[in-house]
Amino acid sequence: MGRIIDHCVECEPVLAASRDKIAALQLKKLQWTLNHAYDNVAMYKAKYDAAGVHPDDLKHLDDLAKFPFTTKEDLRQNYPFGMFAVPMKDIVRIHASSGTTGKPTVVGYTQNDIDVWSNLVARSIRASGGRAEHKVHIAYGYGLFTGGLGAHYGAEALGCTVIPMSGGQTDKQIQLIMDFEPEIIMVTPSYLLALADAFAERGIDPRTTSLKIGIFGAEPWSEEMRREIEGKFDIDAVDIYGLSELMGPGLANECAETKDGAVIWEDAFVPEIVDPNSFTPLEDGTSGEFVLTALFKEAMPIIRYRTKDLTRLLPGTAFTHRRFERITARTDDMMIIRGVNVFPSQIEEIILQEPALSAHYQITLTKEGRMDAISIAVEGRVGQSFDSLEQAAKSLAGKIKAQIGISAWINLKSSGEIPRSQGKAVRVVDKR
Ligand code: DLL
Repeated sequence: MGRIIDHCVECEPVLAASRDKIAALQLKKLQWTLNHAYDNVAMYKAKYDAAGVHPDDLKHLDDLAKFPFTTKEDLRQNYPFGMFAVPMKDIVRIHASSGTTGKPTVVGYTQNDIDVWSNLVARSIRASGGRAEHKVHIAYGYGLFTGGLGAHYGAEALGCTVIPMSGGQTDKQIQLIMDFEPEIIMVTPSYLLALADAFAERGIDPRTTSLKIGIFGAEPWSEEMRREIEGKFDIDAVDIYGLSELMGPGLANECAETKDGAVIWEDAFVPEIVDPNSFTPLEDGTSGEFVLTALFKEAMPIIRYRTKDLTRLLPGTAFTHRRFERITARTDDMMIIRGVNVFPSQIEEIILQEPALSAHYQITLTKEGRMDAISIAVEGRVGQSFDSLEQAAKSLAGKIKAQIGISAWINLKSSGEIPRSQGKAVRVVDKR
């Protein structure tokens, strides 16, 4: 075993706990979680009663499969705070991510939830090779998105010096990297590549910066991209995974020594893979939908959450906790555009607010340099004047920017121009 792995295990022996020990720990925490959810969240009680299961039925880890799944739709139906299991006085933070419609998905945290999350992100940074003496440049967005603040609290918990840059303002990003000399950058992989181009435009070779480690996630990326990033910046590039519903970033992170898939922190989460059609549990090594249960959450227990991400579970290598294969696909139509999660249904909802526009639309995703670009072809309604259509297109772009946070090109079409489907409409053409 090399240096990073040893160091991580010395700091947290649970990373080398036997599988039996991990299972025993998970069972105990799962029993607490199920009871907490059943006693304090009406939705869980109703679902479990209807399915004829009770938290006392969980005698072994395998019994978890008897309990119903939780979905984004459950969160939507209990918007905004119906999933909370503690009184508001105990909630210290709220985050939110995209719902499938205008209503966001809301997540709440108690102080203890924040502490556990921070420690898991600290662990993730440590597994990436980070240390207390490092400066961490955080270019994930701050705000309702969990990326910025999640990384921030984790880096602080590790004792690092945090540079809370947030996303955007490319000139400033470059300036602060040059002047503050951070060793670590946490950012979406696509924005890092855009920063690489910005360095090049200024005649700076990114390999000469102080950066040594990059912790990348919030969107799919590939081994080819890892090679490109590592070559361009002369850094170790590792994968960090997470989702708001479960916690945020740092639910799993790659070890920089093995770089063989993100390690799921199994003392805090129980991973499962289920068949995306029948939803029956699948063996480790078989691909399917990633289902996750959080074992520590006081504010908002989440049990068997269907992530819609497709992957397979792999045995532990650096640590005894299992890993999973890179996520490159989902079972739904969620798009990740410049790190922002967007559902076609959200865009459709806004289009339909414009009386001059019809419901015939098609979204095209392309690359503009390194960055994602989105254009929306939409048909005007018959009989609309040129001016009213222009006005509607402008208004649509403005609302998409304000409500979803992305800049879209609106491509007005006349009636009948957008291909009609023979079955399921092709709403998204991804050319990236
Ligand atoms: O993206 C949390 C996060 C922030 C993770 C910063 C990593 C770094 P959401 O906005 O709720 O949360 O989006 C979650 O993003 O279900 C995946 O589809 C995708 N995703 C996140 N990390 C990765 C990754 C944050 N490393 C959704 N690889 C997830 C591939 C990822 N997809």
